[in-house]
Amino acid sequence: METKIFNSNEIEQAVKHLEAGELIAFPTETVYGLGADATNAVAVAKVYEAKGRPSDNPLIVTVADEAMMAQYALEIPLKAQQLIDAYWPGPLTILLNVKPNTLPTVVTGGLKTAAFRNPADELTRQLIEKLGRPIVGPSANTSTKPSPTTANHVYHDLRGKIAGIVDGGTTEIGLESTIVDLTVDPAVILRPGQITPAEISAVIGETTDYNHNQVGAKEVPKAPGMKYRHYAPKAQVVVVDRVADFAQIDFTDPTVALVALAEVIAKYSTPNSFSLGESVATAAHNLFAALRFFDDQPNIKTIYVQGFKAGEIAPAYMNRLNKSAAGKHFNV
Ligand code: TXA
Ligand code: MG
Repeated sequence: METKIFNSNEIEQAVKHLEAGELIAFPTETVYGLGADATNAVAVAKVYEAKGRPSDNPLIVTVADEAMMAQYALEIPLKAQQLIDAYWPGPLTILLNVKPNTLPTVVTGGLKTAAFRNPADELTRQLIEKLGRPIVGPSANTSTKPSPTTANHVYHDLRGKIAGIVDGGTTEIGLESTIVDLTVDPAVILRPGQITPAEISAVIGETTDYNHNQVGAKEVPKAPGMKYRHYAPKAQVVVVDRVADFAQIDFTDPTVALVALAEVIAKYSTPNSFSLGESVATAAHNLFAALRFFDDQPNIKTIYVQGFKAGEIAPAYMNRLNKSAAGKHFNV
């Protein structure tokens, strides 16, 4: 299958492919998503196939606006309404009970809930609005790989497997949306993102944090995707928590790569480096691209990546980085 690239004036063509039950990747403010008509079970099954995704891992339901969500959500509790008013469209996904028989089980993984997301990207809003139905929206990467933040990343992973990609340039945030479970009280933050627990609590009061790192292999996790290997490039990732520790690493070793802020990279002369920019926010924006960069360099065996403690997006950044490193930290 030829994978076409669609620009801002070619949205209608992309819609035709969705109507025909084919897959179209789309930009959002977080990462690129892989879209299929969420009401078409056959089309949605192709998403699992293209990504190589385990079939018990449900998909986000991406809507053009709140009114579209209301057709599929069983009810919209007050706290959901408050979060929608505060943060939609934007990088926040909300888990609600789903109206029976409105979405195929292949979308929800047979759960009574669905994860609803209303991304801020204008091209994607047009895509969904013209289709007139929600589209599923897992990240548009091969399962286990870092999420895609450019159309090129999507093309690299899914070329020949999907009908097309709507090219919206590089995504702004670079890490996936915050997910909040509103089917329980207090609400549970299932995945950290740019919108922080404090920002959620400021709107709806108390929330609890799902403990992301302690889901055993046999346990059924709250957000099913948590139990899988994630964000893993080919090389071993090692998190470096203290900037001073970079001095202990031998960067003359050609199998070693460095991913850190520009100010850190300036101190060590290595050809195998990828700059995270100037701040934690630019680090979040660049992390997945950095991890993908060294996949094309088979000589690289270890990637040392700078960790962060301070900064609003630091918990979301560390959540992704810890998974990509399978918990491996330097000198701890
Ligand atoms: O920013 C984002 O959310 C991106 C963009 C493309 O919208 N999408 C994304 O999708 O990150 P994905 O599939 O890579 O991650 C969604 C997570 C998965 O861990 C999945 O298990 C969980 O949401 N999820 C989806 N539906 C769920 C449900 N009904 N109950 C619990 N978890 C659910
Ligand atoms: Mg994903």
